[in-house]
Amino acid sequence: MKRMLITGGAKGIGLACAKKFVKQGYKTIIVDIDEKLLSEAKSLINSDLLDTYVCDVSNMDQVNSVCEDVLKKYEVIDVLVNNAGIFRDNRGPFNESEYEAWKKKIDCNIYGTLFFTRALINPMIKNKDGRIINLASVAAKYGIKNMADYSLTKGAILSFSKALAKEVGQYNVRVNTVSPGNIEPDNRYPEMSYLDRSGTYDECANLIYFLASDEASFITGEDYVVDGGRRKI
Ligand SMILES: NC(=O)c1ccc[n+]([C@@H]2O[C@H](COP(=O)([O-])OP(=O)(O)OC[C@H]3O[C@@H](n4cnc5c(N)ncnc54)[C@H](O)[C@@H]3O)[C@@H](O)[C@H]2O)c1
Repeated sequence: MKRMLITGGAKGIGLACAKKFVKQGYKTIIVDIDEKLLSEAKSLINSDLLDTYVCDVSNMDQVNSVCEDVLKKYEVIDVLVNNAGIFRDNRGPFNESEYEAWKKKIDCNIYGTLFFTRALINPMIKNKDGRIINLASVAAKYGIKNMADYSLTKGAILSFSKALAKEVGQYNVRVNTVSPGNIEPDNRYPEMSYLDRSGTYDECANLIYFLASDEASFITGEDYVVDGGRRKI
């Protein structure tokens, strides 16, 4: 049985992914900072295939202790999805922005990805099989007004993933990124895509699942946009 771990999996894109992987028979481990959301996700998915951990991805000690426990239980994680991200907080012009807001996003979006990847990649390398999917954003590709700090963090994820893919391809570890556009359940901004609607969490989960699967066995170091042909950045 394949084992997958997703960060920020208690809601949104992460929860849709967790549901999808459980449905496909993966041992699925959700890591999230929000204990209440996590227990709601647990009841919703209601499967023996699911395991959960409360953890702040920006705290290296917490991440290392979760990963130590996970590796003790499951030996290796076959699929890592670094999805936890902060993007709704503190939007506004950069010239009015402040250090604390940048730091929060950098710590979660960049360090969270580095910590989990570093903690779980060596068993993948040893196993000569691994798939890492990191959540970037259209903000990384184009830059989004009033989200300069967030755009910075997702740009870092794109370049980190491309570089890492080149290091670990020789061990059959594939690293790709997914860049969502406007994804939300209430279809509040249909004008942002050429399909005249917002994307759904499931539509992102489908792409992530494909990249993790053997169907994508010759794909690494790439970024895939899921944005309905985004019209307005
Ligand atoms: N939804 C979109 O339109 C969109 C667009 C582009 C990129 N993305 C990216 O996709 C990813 C998921 O987006 P979403 O819309 O599902 O987000 P969301 O805000 O709905 O969910 C994020 C989850 O991450 C968890 N989380 C936040 N900080 C954490 C931390 N420090 N440690 C552990 N867990 C933490 C939250 O509790 C939550 O469950 C993010 O990386 C986001 O930047 C989303």
